[in-house]
Amino acid sequence: MGKALDGVRILDFTHVQSGPTCTQLLAWFGADVIKVERAGAGDITREQLRDIPDVDSLYFTMLNHNKRSVTIDTKNPEGKQVLEALIQKCDVLVENFAPGALDRMGFTWERIQELNPRMIVASVKGFGPGPYEDCKVYENVAQCAGGAASTTGFDDGPPVVTGAQIGDSGTGLHLALGIVTALYQRTQTGRGQRVLAAMQDGVLNLCRVKLRDQQRLERTGVMKEYPQYPNGKFGEAVPRAGNASGGGQPGWILKCKGWETDPNAYIYFITQAPVWAKICNVIGKEEWATDPDYATPAARLPRLKEIFAEIERWTMTKTKFEAMQILNKYDIPCGPILSMKEIAEEPSLRQTGTIVEVDHPTRGKYLTVGNPIKLSDSPTEVKRSPLLGEHTDEVMAELGYSPEQISALRTAGAI
Ligand code: COA
Repeated sequence: MGKALDGVRILDFTHVQSGPTCTQLLAWFGADVIKVERAGAGDITREQLRDIPDVDSLYFTMLNHNKRSVTIDTKNPEGKQVLEALIQKCDVLVENFAPGALDRMGFTWERIQELNPRMIVASVKGFGPGPYEDCKVYENVAQCAGGAASTTGFDDGPPVVTGAQIGDSGTGLHLALGIVTALYQRTQTGRGQRVLAAMQDGVLNLCRVKLRDQQRLERTGVMKEYPQYPNGKFGEAVPRAGNASGGGQPGWILKCKGWETDPNAYIYFITQAPVWAKICNVIGKEEWATDPDYATPAARLPRLKEIFAEIERWTMTKTKFEAMQILNKYDIPCGPILSMKEIAEEPSLRQTGTIVEVDHPTRGKYLTVGNPIKLSDSPTEVKRSPLLGEHTDEVMAELGYSPEQISALRTAGAI
């Protein structure tokens, strides 16, 4: 079966996490992704957080599947010529260098346009135009500057960053959408364009509901679904909401059987209004279904702490999986807190290709997260990440270089 992006060639100038997550997605959809790296070094993540000496790290392998790797020194004049040939041959250049690095290499937007007017140039940067546009940015900087950290954690603690890489992988996802959209527009205009996804913007996009709450707070001075209500204080800015649901149906994380020794023996429980009577039955508080102090969502809001404490008395008598089974029978929305160990071992995730085992020539077998986006006519086959420069000769030959020319360029340190 063909793939959705068959025939699309991506010049992948990305490194670390944000850019590589974007190009990995495009590769999974069938694009030919040619990753350009520096000879001898490569993407810095190849050697970061290594668990096996001298072997590409999981950090690298898990972000660079289905790509080809070529080594080019783009500051070497002959290396520059090779890169120019690639620009002429490819549809999209994706990069996430520090601001200005591509220009300093001599590849300004204008120069790229001269070489290939159809080329789409897609960039991840930490910030968009403004006071911070020249800053280098990593994941947690973006989480802090995009509003996530100030709204995560508990009221009596400091701001907290999340383990979900919303700054890096989240922005990679935004960029991938920008790229396929620009490719679609190119079918009408015949022209390339620039695509920018700033990490601050990407994180803020994912924190949209918190900007909603900021404006609610300014108007009313109170947000009744927040744990600060009714006894705590609200200040000028959206406070940290602990495990409150963030939506119109109150929720909280509750202890389950075994919580004393298992740090993940918890369940997320949502007191969805339409199933309130069923919740009351399950936890043995049938009288709450009709008691005016508990029967309506509005009446429950000032009593959420007491209500969740009562529900927790019930969840503590069940494992998180037993609780899930019972609650699902009654359509009560809930979710177990799954550890990475449990996720890695979950058979249904293996079956759908969301968790995939991959074989690598120097590392052996390892697990990775497959394509989370499933297309019925473009199935994803996860292939191992390339070794550094594994495809240099192959790609150079496709560009028309003879074996002698390739050898001469290698001697000159250009590739
Ligand atoms: N040949 C020759 N030079 C190369 C090269 C190649 N194949 N590939 C990269 N380089 C050079 C660049 O031109 C740059 O040189 P310069 O500083 O002289 O202009 C240099 O390598 C380093 O690139 P840079 O992007 O500055 O790397 P860094 O390690 O200093 O910074 C980041 C890393 C992630 C902080 C930075 O790239 C950044 O802010 N990127 C944008 C935001 C982002 O994506 N952050 C998330 C990362 S997960």
